[in-house]
Amino acid sequence: MRHPLVMGNWKLNGSKHMTAELIAGLRNALSGVDGCDVAIAPPVMYLEQAHQAIAGSHIALGAQNVDVNLSGAFTGEVSAEMLRDIGARYIIIGHSERRTYHKESDELVAKKFAILKDAGLIPVLCIGETEAENEAGKTEEVCSRQIDAVLNTLGAGAFNGAVIAYEPVWAIGTGKSATPAQAQAVHKFIRDHVAKKDAAVAQQLILQYGGSVNDKNAAELFAQPDIDGALVGGASLKADAFTAIVKAAAQAKNAG
Ligand code: PGA
Repeated sequence: MRHPLVMGNWKLNGSKHMTAELIAGLRNALSGVDGCDVAIAPPVMYLEQAHQAIAGSHIALGAQNVDVNLSGAFTGEVSAEMLRDIGARYIIIGHSERRTYHKESDELVAKKFAILKDAGLIPVLCIGETEAENEAGKTEEVCSRQIDAVLNTLGAGAFNGAVIAYEPVWAIGTGKSATPAQAQAVHKFIRDHVAKKDAAVAQQLILQYGGSVNDKNAAELFAQPDIDGALVGGASLKADAFTAIVKAAAQAKNAG
């Protein structure tokens, strides 16, 4: 049975004050909630503070990006070893904002996936189609291309213990989430796609949905058989909303 993962992607938001307040709120509200893994990915600047603030809780630390290089003359970058050193575990790669604003290719994202696996960290591979691709009926084509960049270079085994977040670009930050049925159809496609290479790996793969998940729509999404939690942006900045999403995932797991 898969354990859902709800992860907060803070993006470029936060301060020392906000990090302290938000984590204190989450610790308080989430104590005793069982059945759902929880992670937060603050900006890299606040990872150390967050690491200390979550100590002794069930909240895991994540990060929003990693470089493909381990050390050396790469100004401004952060390595997988550094993320591990600071206590981060779940690392988001291939987020559509990085694919768009930083021109990250499928190949670069696959290299990041490899570097994380080598470091013993958990890649959270973001995939998903744009609105234009969706309207052109290319959702499956785009998702399989983004997954194949990893599958074809590292093999299906690389997805053992890894996470894929399906995040339709048109749903991110728009308030326009995919419907549970829409998301489920793509999640099933993704799992079947990986299963063609390795059924056991596909079966254990955590498939998060991301894109305007909030405390109102989470339960319906998590009731779908192939949706194993969520990658949450905006709603992860509010302790009450994020807590409600975690609880919805835990309840769906306990019900299913
Ligand atoms: P959102 O962002 O929840 O604000 O739509 C999700 C994401 O980009 O991971």
